Amino acid sequence: MSFIEFKNICKKYPGADKNTVNDFCMNIEEKEFIAFVGPSGCGKSTTLRMVAGFEEITGGELYIDGKKVNEMAPKDRGIAMVFQNYALYPHMTVEKNIGYGLKNMKVPADEIKKKVDWAIKILGLEEYRLRKPKNLSGGQRQRVALGRAIVKNQKVFLMDEPLSNLDAKLRVSMRTEISKLHRELGATTIYVTHDQVEAMTMADRIVIMKEGIIQQIGKPMELYDHPVNQFVAGFIGSPQMNFFDVIVEENRMKFSDGKQVTLSEEVVKKLNGKQGPMIFGIRGEDIKVDAAGIEECKYEQEAIITDTEVMGNENNLYFTFGGSQAVARVSKYGVHDIGDKIVFGFLPSKMHFFDRETGENYAEIN
Ligand SMILES: Nc1ncnc2c1ncn2[C@@H]1O[C@H](COP(=O)(O)OP(=O)(O)OP(=O)(O)O)[C@@H](O)[C@H]1O
Ligand SMILES: [Mg+2]
Repeated sequence: MSFIEFKNICKKYPGADKNTVNDFCMNIEEKEFIAFVGPSGCGKSTTLRMVAGFEEITGGELYIDGKKVNEMAPKDRGIAMVFQNYALYPHMTVEKNIGYGLKNMKVPADEIKKKVDWAIKILGLEEYRLRKPKNLSGGQRQRVALGRAIVKNQKVFLMDEPLSNLDAKLRVSMRTEISKLHRELGATTIYVTHDQVEAMTMADRIVIMKEGIIQQIGKPMELYDHPVNQFVAGFIGSPQMNFFDVIVEENRMKFSDGKQVTLSEEVVKKLNGKQGPMIFGIRGEDIKVDAAGIEECKYEQEAIITDTEVMGNENNLYFTFGGSQAVARVSKYGVHDIGDKIVFGFLPSKMHFFDRETGENYAEIN
């Protein structure tokens, strides 16, 4: 049995005409770090709150550590939670804030002290233990909120967008700290975010949701390389995967502006016999520019650069091709300017084909 089991979990809010979370099924193993991602309103927080017990489960069964918890009170579920809008007590010092929950749970004072000392050390808050929240930076406050949760020493850690109030640089460093904390504590973790970079960098496995329905569950690179549908392909990765309306006939792929590309045998095989109108998808780094030396790539297409984005480590080149806007990612040594002509090809092994109606990825159909 897995540590957390979602069996057909549904949530229907009173008065809603359909389920906000529908038929959510997954098993989470002990010590796993799972990220829930998806656009705003897709049901991530609702699902997390059902695990915590703050939201009633209206369908299905939820098990934690072998026990059905549908009717169990939050305090008995063995969970600790960090919210997006964690409120620290303004009149209490860092150490008091961290220990407050334990005091409420009637934990003896010497044990509280031991746990608070441990949390303060692990979170690097030694210098600040007697400060009040208003005299702390955003990242330090965030660490205090984490401290409050970790002293409870629970089996399951739930985090709902804990970094969304922080600036970009702090988010990156807190990301690393949370990953480190997870390795040290080993608590089974569910982390909600709508930031796909956070999910990719932190999680063992990612759950991508859309409108209350799981789209795909997998390791970060599985989702990146083998998205089951166009939604997942577009959600994971930045810049977004390029999409083109095409018509495939035999081994020819025709774009809406009449351009044609010959498909290799390998690609035709990947199509599982599908022909006709479909969506062709390719990531920016898999558009190989100026004979990048990749043998299986045919460098037979041309375009004029309309825009460039210099990222430092790499450059994004924008151009129009096949009736759509496209972006290619090239190394920082590939120097290009607006107006330059590029010659490029699509890396055959990284070409994706999606159904125009359902969005499903033809190559990932089992
Ligand atoms: N108490 C409630 N009663 C009715 N509908 C609700 C309630 N809470 C949330 N919803 C609705 O349920 C849907 C999912 O909300 P939820 O908060 O789970 O989304 P989310 O994925 O966490 O989004 P975000 O990224 O914006 O936090 C939304 O359409 C929301 O309006
Ligand atoms: Mg939310």
